[in-house]
Amino acid sequence: MAIVIKTQEDIEKMRIAGRLAAEVLDYITPFVKPGVTTEELDKLCHDYMVNVQGTIPAPLNYAPDGGTPYPKSICTSINHVICHGIPDNKPLKKGDIVNLDITVIKDGYHGDTSRMFYVGEVSDFARRLCKVTYECMWKGIEKVKPGARLGDIGNVIQRHAEAAGYSVVQEFCGHGIGKKFHEEPQVLHYGQPGTGLELKAGMIFTIEPMINQGKRHLRMLADGWTVVTKDRSLSAQWEHTILVTETGYEILTTSDGTPPKPVFKH
Ligand code: MF3
Ligand code: CO
Ligand code: CO
Repeated sequence: MAIVIKTQEDIEKMRIAGRLAAEVLDYITPFVKPGVTTEELDKLCHDYMVNVQGTIPAPLNYAPDGGTPYPKSICTSINHVICHGIPDNKPLKKGDIVNLDITVIKDGYHGDTSRMFYVGEVSDFARRLCKVTYECMWKGIEKVKPGARLGDIGNVIQRHAEAAGYSVVQEFCGHGIGKKFHEEPQVLHYGQPGTGLELKAGMIFTIEPMINQGKRHLRMLADGWTVVTKDRSLSAQWEHTILVTETGYEILTTSDGTPPKPVFKH
């Protein structure tokens, strides 16, 4: 399937879905505390989506190419979990870092966004990883405009991560999104400038770098979903859904609680 250039009507609906996904993160933020289980966070988000927003949690029973269906409504990736952590009955503890990844479907359209959360007080090195990963996402976003190439996005993310001494996960990437959860193109978070697909107004895709404190290599757990760092080093991720506009970009997954754009020193 080719890349979908969204119509004005698609874009309107993607704005709504994007905002709703971000609002689930706003809603759940005060609950992310030591002692809460990720299953409790999942239930709260599920009920908020279904009963308050009238959205469908896209992860629930999601089974790309016939794999094990995903059993929960959100992804909760703690510490050395890179992505797709499955909510369970283990309480979060002080010092953990956790990514909450929310994808909603509203009126047939998907909004996909994730943020990092600190559980109580966390170490300086964990904080630095989360901050640099946030900057990586933003450096990627700022490359988005018609005529730019996907390699420009990947390259700026990779350079910023590696300059900080970190590594970029290569096996998972950003993706086109719309009526389908995962569409073309694949948005790699590494690469060479001036290479890859040329961006055009009306494309919508996610930028969602996964950055490891140690080596980039990963391992998949037996549950068929949870992805962890092979060296058990910490991993962080942030995600926005982005529209390519005539002049640049529009972030579709914003809400009142979206953290501000970082201030770059270089
Ligand atoms: N939200 C993830 C992404 O950013 C995908 C999660 S698939 C799931 O692409 F089934 F684990 F939810
Ligand atoms: Co995504
Ligand atoms: Co996501």
